[in-house]
Amino acid sequence: MNKPKIAQKAPYVVDVESGQTYFWCACGKSQNQPYCDGSHKGSDFVPVKFAADRDEKVFFCGCKHSANAPMCDGSHNKLD
Ligand code: FES
Ligand code: FES
Repeated sequence: MNKPKIAQKAPYVVDVESGQTYFWCACGKSQNQPYCDGSHKGSDFVPVKFAADRDEKVFFCGCKHSANAPMCDGSHNKLD
């Protein structure tokens, strides 16, 4: 598996809406972070679906190295 591109070394803080579905960019190449824009095509990466079951503030991983994708787990602090 190739390494994802680091979009940013910090999470994207987003207000998600109950009932909405989001597709988090796993490859890091999307121009529409933190969401997939199809740029992963031809790579090993696929987006990760997130279905919001309530209105809330979430922290989508921006570094693409989280072990708890699509959410930030603090791994961005350990990147070079
Ligand atoms: Fe990154 Fe689709 S553009 S997963
Ligand atoms: Fe990726 Fe925090 S932004 S783990």
